[in-house]
Amino acid sequence: MKIVIANWKMNLLSQEAAAFCQAFKAGYTPKAGCEAGIAPPATLLHQVSALLAGSSVQVYAQNAYFEPKGAFTGEISMSQVKDAGCHGVILGHSERRHIFGETDENLVKKLKSAWECELMPVLCIGETLTQRDAGFTLDVLHKQLEVLKVTGPGPLVLAYEPVWAIGTGRVAEPVQIEEVHAFIHDELWHLWHDRGLDIPIQYGGSVTPENFDGILAVPFVSGGLVGGASLDPAKFQKLIGQAQATV
Ligand code: 13P
Repeated sequence: MKIVIANWKMNLLSQEAAAFCQAFKAGYTPKAGCEAGIAPPATLLHQVSALLAGSSVQVYAQNAYFEPKGAFTGEISMSQVKDAGCHGVILGHSERRHIFGETDENLVKKLKSAWECELMPVLCIGETLTQRDAGFTLDVLHKQLEVLKVTGPGPLVLAYEPVWAIGTGRVAEPVQIEEVHAFIHDELWHLWHDRGLDIPIQYGGSVTPENFDGILAVPFVSGGLVGGASLDPAKFQKLIGQAQATV
């Protein structure tokens, strides 16, 4: 199974989102074995869900809180995300971890809460450049994956996003991606045994139509989590077409 998700981050207003969805839907043809998703900012979840209804493109939130409701000003719950028409939720994105202090302890609770609300979590992991240069890449990923030991198995998409490749135009080399994806595949087997082997592992970090074919050819890469290039409907369509061509 392949899966390509657009992470719009803190971009687009409602008119722009409407124009995107209209242009995107006009050129999108689904193909079995390849899922497409869009993760708009929270303010656009309802609108984008309504605009994409019936298209088979799934909507994801970029984050949500683990408590079901209450006095948590500025947060949204998993059930609110579900209520907005979402299929899933991105968790542990490096921007959440590094700018907003997301912790593994919270991620355990968020994963459980997402499953309770029947949302598909997309768990992001990745090392910083300092960690890679110091030779700690696999140790960092091993540590980040330990949340899955605590939660036990459940529906999941995993996204490997090296922090140094996000928004920098510096995509990881296929050989670097191959080493990490094979490692994650192995770790998932150790953590969840057979259930771990069904988990798609996306690559994210400066993905563009120009480099995506090479990335998709790497073993254990099951798609992409795309930031900048996903803001252009034509580019996003192209990326989905590239993933569809591999299934
Ligand atoms: P870019 O594709 O802009 O590098 O962003 C990647 C990302 O963070 C997707 O979640």
